[in-house]
Amino acid sequence: MQNLLALLGIDVEYVRGEGNTLYFLDEAGREVPVIDYAGGYGALVLGHNHPEVVATAESFLRSGNPVLAQASRQPAAGRVLARLNEIVRREFGTTEPYYGVFSNSGAESVEVALKHAEFDRQLTVRGLLGEIAEHVERAREAVRSGAATLPDGPDVDVDALVDRVTAANAVVAARPPVLLALEGSFHGKLVGSVQLTHNAAYRTPFASMAAQVRFVPFDQPEAIAKIAEEERAVLLDLRLEDGHVRVVERDFPVFGALFMEVIQGEGGIREVTAEQARTIRQACTAIGCPVVVDEIQSGMGRTGAFFASSPIGLQADYYTLAKGLGGGITKTALTLIRGQRFRPEFDLVHSSTFAKDGLSLAVTLKVLDVLEAEGGQAYRQAAERGDRLTRLLRSLVAAYPQVLKEVRGKGLMLGLEFRDLSDAAAPRLREAARADMFGYVVSAYLLRAHRIRTFPTASAVNTLRFEPSIYLTDEETAALEAALRDVCARLGDQDEEAFFGP
Ligand code: F0G
Repeated sequence: MQNLLALLGIDVEYVRGEGNTLYFLDEAGREVPVIDYAGGYGALVLGHNHPEVVATAESFLRSGNPVLAQASRQPAAGRVLARLNEIVRREFGTTEPYYGVFSNSGAESVEVALKHAEFDRQLTVRGLLGEIAEHVERAREAVRSGAATLPDGPDVDVDALVDRVTAANAVVAARPPVLLALEGSFHGKLVGSVQLTHNAAYRTPFASMAAQVRFVPFDQPEAIAKIAEEERAVLLDLRLEDGHVRVVERDFPVFGALFMEVIQGEGGIREVTAEQARTIRQACTAIGCPVVVDEIQSGMGRTGAFFASSPIGLQADYYTLAKGLGGGITKTALTLIRGQRFRPEFDLVHSSTFAKDGLSLAVTLKVLDVLEAEGGQAYRQAAERGDRLTRLLRSLVAAYPQVLKEVRGKGLMLGLEFRDLSDAAAPRLREAARADMFGYVVSAYLLRAHRIRTFPTASAVNTLRFEPSIYLTDEETAALEAALRDVCARLGDQDEEAFFGP
């Protein structure tokens, strides 16, 4: 990564951050401001070093309160969850409580959802096998006592029948879960979560290490029903009916969970529509598959609501939160689990030394305070600033249709897609496009020539991502507009020297 940054001439050391601005030092030691549209990959909903968040962290550290006091009463964790439950109630209109499991990074909160969903599935399977074992013994007794007859079939006696049923069930019960995710998804890079991340370069080298995922085409959520058909598995059960033993099939819980972002971030800023969300929710409910909505990037207010899933009416069984939850200061993550799914035993089998530390909890409470202040002014501000930025980007697409393709996203989670220059006349631009480096070349130019920081989305390299804080100013927006107009004009002129030098 260091080599790549150096090659692009953007291996800058930032020495200070404030709001949407990062500063580096020039050769004379003077601070040079850079407007930060990368926003900590979406973690800086409140900008760099938000004064109230910093003050909270400082006062916590000065107070002498313990940062690490694991396995003790931690009322601040309860307060964070109570606040989030208020938000869930307001945004989704539900009264069902959500439980929380704290962790330290986005990928970890996805792993928690993955693990909990599998724990839940295993306990369900155990319950089913327990029920079946009782029925089997009842059938065995009934046949032995002459109260019931065996079904027609291959079994010479009731013990043979019981052995056959038990062996078949053991094979099915040992199956690993089938996981679902949407094409284009990004859910992290740890061993389990990277299998939920669609980009093959990240995922396939590690495929042997974790449960496999079936990817649902982004625009065809109805494919879930077909996958369910293909993956269907059954356990065998024995039922007594009018003096006969009958072999009956019981549906086996095949699916671990479906994971999705409502606005794909790293995959190129793509929004799931309300209709697609409805199809996914219904299909998953029909097959008993929990829905995990990953709000790690889209959540914490940047789209105009705390949860980007709430305006499209998608209520999840699990929400994963991270990035902005730590206010740009702490590494905080949280998995919310719906009451009807939560298994209290999970708390005893999952933990992390650093999760739920006192400093993070204090910071997260402050972040929630700031977001919820004045009846949710932060959300309104994100929506209003985002609308303004969207209008600006749309006007650029209209002005430079030969260079720009489209604007996607919502609020302060926006993507601007450039047209593919793989066949451009200018050789260096063409080569950059063919090597999937075009977006990085444009980003590097924006930084060098305009002191604007943004990056392409890693799995959709012609899309630049804009995720500033809710405190975005008109001046910062105007500076972006001027910079992008310059980029578009130069690309239109195939002026490759601007991007690569003479
Ligand atoms: N889920 C989503 C939706 C993400 O955007 C990310 C990270 C993660 C999970 C993993 O979180 O990095 O804290 O482990 N996205 C970054 C990006 C890397 O480029 O958008 P993490």
